Amino acid sequence: MTDIVLRKVTKRFGDLVVLPELDLTIRSGEFTVLLGPSGCGKTTLMRIIAGLEEVTSGEIVISGQDVTHTRASERDVAMVFQSYALYPHLSVAHNLGFPLKVRGEASAVIDAKVKKVAALLGLSALLQRKPKQLSGGQRQRVALGRAIIREPRIFLFDEPLSNLDANMREGVRSELIRFHADVRKTIVYVTHDQVEAMTMAQRIVVMHEGVIQQIGTAKEVYKKPANTFVAGFVGSPGMNLVPAVEIGRPIIGQDFSGSGEDVLLSAGRAALVGCRPENVRLGARSASGFAFTAKILSLQPLGASMMVDLETAGSRIVALTEWRDNNLEPGQAIDVCFPLEDVCYFNEAGARFD
Ligand SMILES: Nc1ncnc2c1ncn2[C@@H]1O[C@H](COP(=O)(O)OP(=O)(O)OP(=O)(O)O)[C@@H](O)[C@H]1O
Ligand SMILES: [Mg+2]
Repeated sequence: MTDIVLRKVTKRFGDLVVLPELDLTIRSGEFTVLLGPSGCGKTTLMRIIAGLEEVTSGEIVISGQDVTHTRASERDVAMVFQSYALYPHLSVAHNLGFPLKVRGEASAVIDAKVKKVAALLGLSALLQRKPKQLSGGQRQRVALGRAIIREPRIFLFDEPLSNLDANMREGVRSELIRFHADVRKTIVYVTHDQVEAMTMAQRIVVMHEGVIQQIGTAKEVYKKPANTFVAGFVGSPGMNLVPAVEIGRPIIGQDFSGSGEDVLLSAGRAALVGCRPENVRLGARSASGFAFTAKILSLQPLGASMMVDLETAGSRIVALTEWRDNNLEPGQAIDVCFPLEDVCYFNEAGARFD
């Protein structure tokens, strides 16, 4: 068991409160992703777990042991930093093997492990090169390899793929997922990229201004965002959020059985109605849903789909549609429907309710 428990952790830098008071349990063996915008405190939290930053108050317990005041070197945690440094005078092989050499492992063992990690990360052909002879992405993979080779009980990855191009990022992402499936170690992975979070995480912790907004699987966070921040931050583009007063009460179709009254009640209490862009229906009024008229502002073909920018009353709405079967024009007024089965309701404070 290598779970990480943070209890009432606060962190201040002078007058700046970065973490007001944070409670979080990271489960043993899970791939947990910390997701949040720049400056929300992700790196600070990672550094606190690693022991590189003191908490202002609160405690950190790893595997049942209070490590709040334990030195970083004694926590058996490997961190890959957002800005990492390789030893410039050492080859890739020696950079990878360095943590094992420090530990005094035999060179045959080191060689074997270096080969294995290099293969995992696509570095086998580069082992004799020096860091300055590598691209940014290759260097980043060496930094990853140097953490992996240590076989610590916990991995902390702070945006380790940010220097990679899109293709390479996808490749290393799947390598990391496979690596985790293989070793089943506790991994905490930081990103501000919600696609990365959705694809990799077993659990996502969404943060905003040092406060945890929601903890859940990718599906939970996407389908049932706890509040309007999560609804808007997760998804690309984020969930449409429209004041209920602008789009009125839902039209209940004839074949809608039973719970019509509940729906009307929910809609009546909602300050905002949310609908994901891919669920917005254009040009046809579906049997049950919020139906209104909007003006098309612009059309952006994305390849497989078309992004349609719309305006109704004071709100902007984005719809993703298949672009084969539509003949939409900017300036045109169009019927829009948020199907009942796909909408979320949010109260005045921004919290979702069912
Ligand atoms: N040593 C420090 N002294 C003062 N302020 C700091 C220090 N380290 C971080 N901060 C501040 O704390 C806040 C959180 O920073 P942190 O690096 O944890 O954010 P982050 O979520 O990792 O952002 P990013 O996605 O940009 O890396 C920021 O406002 C930052 O300026
Ligand atoms: Mg950071």
